Amino acid sequence: MLVRLQKIIADAGITSRRKAEELILQGRVAVNGQAVTELGSKADPARDHVKVDGKLLRRATRLLYLLLNKPVGYVSTVSDPQRRPTVISLVKNIKERVYPVGRLDFHSSGLILLTSDGELANLLMSRAAAIPRTYHAKLESQPKREDLARLEQGIVLDGQRTAPAKIRVVADREKPWYEITLIEGRYHQVRRMFERIGCPVVKLKRARIAFLTDDGLGPGRYRHLSPAEVERLKNWKAKK
Ligand code: URA
Repeated sequence: MLVRLQKIIADAGITSRRKAEELILQGRVAVNGQAVTELGSKADPARDHVKVDGKLLRRATRLLYLLLNKPVGYVSTVSDPQRRPTVISLVKNIKERVYPVGRLDFHSSGLILLTSDGELANLLMSRAAAIPRTYHAKLESQPKREDLARLEQGIVLDGQRTAPAKIRVVADREKPWYEITLIEGRYHQVRRMFERIGCPVVKLKRARIAFLTDDGLGPGRYRHLSPAEVERLKNWKAKK
């Protein structure tokens, strides 16, 4: 997309738009190696190399942190070869690219973080951070107490033992709801764990990520994290 040069310079945090105009008039701005001195000139910030006084501009990308309540029927990837709706399509009026932190499967609902901050995304997904994620799972049938204890202690999935989990009943019905908290995020982990004890999950919702809940956040809605929440996530490991 073509954008006025003075805006590109201002967006990079170098100076104001007005001062950027002066820089252009003074012949201190170059686009792809060519000096540009006309004020109406435009460039594509995603492709063109804009230099001020010989120094290449870096695009200042705003670091965004969103908490989204994913409805069932959305994929938690940026694009989908099967053309199913993505979580990104639920985010409106934001020009920065944001990416989902981890996955929540197509048939599951609940909380997922989206961010443009790759560093925080890596931290949150690292094993070391051990960010707890709490799920509510509706089961096809009543599990046995000893089977739940096995799941809590850890079972072997794909040749690797699962980390200790916490499980408690939240609605004791014919098809009961259980709450399970994991500190790792392996492929379809909750579904595979309950499947292993003969109680398939019929509905699954992520209700909490660390201290973040879906309070007031309806399905399909999202909100920005506050700076304090971002700091708390960044320091999660240190705080444990
Ligand atoms: N466990 C699952 O089975 N599915 C998810 O989407 C997340 C955790």
